[in-house]
Amino acid sequence: MPLVTTKEMFAKAYDGNYAIGAFNVNNMEMIQGIVEAGKEENAPLILQVSSGARKYANPKYLKKLVEAAVDDSGLPIALHLDHGDSYDLCKSAIEDGFTSVMIDASHHSFEENIKITSQVVKYAHDHGVVVEAELGRLAGIEDDVNVSAENACYTDPAQVEEFVQKTGVDSLAIAIGTSHGAYKFKGDAMLRFDILEEVGKRLPKFPIVLHGASSVIPEYVDIINEFGGMMPGAKGVPEDMLRKAASMAVCKINIDSDLRLAFTAAIRKHFVENPAHFDPRQYLSPARALIKECVKHKLVNVLGCNGKA
Ligand code: G3H
Ligand code: 13P
Ligand code: ZN
Repeated sequence: MPLVTTKEMFAKAYDGNYAIGAFNVNNMEMIQGIVEAGKEENAPLILQVSSGARKYANPKYLKKLVEAAVDDSGLPIALHLDHGDSYDLCKSAIEDGFTSVMIDASHHSFEENIKITSQVVKYAHDHGVVVEAELGRLAGIEDDVNVSAENACYTDPAQVEEFVQKTGVDSLAIAIGTSHGAYKFKGDAMLRFDILEEVGKRLPKFPIVLHGASSVIPEYVDIINEFGGMMPGAKGVPEDMLRKAASMAVCKINIDSDLRLAFTAAIRKHFVENPAHFDPRQYLSPARALIKECVKHKLVNVLGCNGKA
């Protein structure tokens, strides 16, 4: 089976009240850990590559690794550009063989966001590729852009119909209080489910995307802290909130920070327990294994997409 788009995945997820996990990848071990989990749970997957990941690993290498994952697993897998910030970047990902791209023009005005998104949609659809856009602005860090909490803003449901109708976009990321990174909430976690509900009513059967959806799994934060890390105040989105979002219009849940925490926790632990090791296979094996465990947990307990491949 070749790489797929997210069209069919999202249609099934919408009707089945579950969500597809979109996991950020930067290297072979992460891809293998995620895909092993998907195989064991028979789950469809979205593997996504940020522009930082492109710079780090070269999209051509990542594409080949993801193609190998498709061959090896037989799973429906979409290769997605995460937070594409320009038409040129989206075009280049499409030329590289990505099956889905995100154009994130959310920092522009509403009109400019529509204009840039429409250009990307036109090129992508001409090439059989689907497009995710963003309306509203999440707080947190993406590549070199750091959006402060004051500059973040919730999605205005009154704008979504016009945006989707004018752009022809295939899915929409909205801001309901999640943020990127490992420090999402100072006090209690609070998501604006009222906005999600209203967006769902205004856009029937339309797939909504939730970014910044790591739970910042306390166990991994504890491991990192126990073995010399310092992550005071790290806090993510409670899993029951993510399950609720998945049962509503959210069809794609983005997870990056949890995988970073798992990978790093396993490596820290390994070196404290085995300070003399220097073969990368010795410390990357437990890192890959913990990614797999983390992703299996997400597929079954958070996303509900196990058995849906
Ligand atoms: O939303 C951002 C993702 O977590 C990707 O992070 O840009 O550091 O690769 P990155
Ligand atoms: P987290 O930082 O919560 O994992 O969010 C990742 C994300 O939204 C990638 O686009
Ligand atoms: Zn994101």
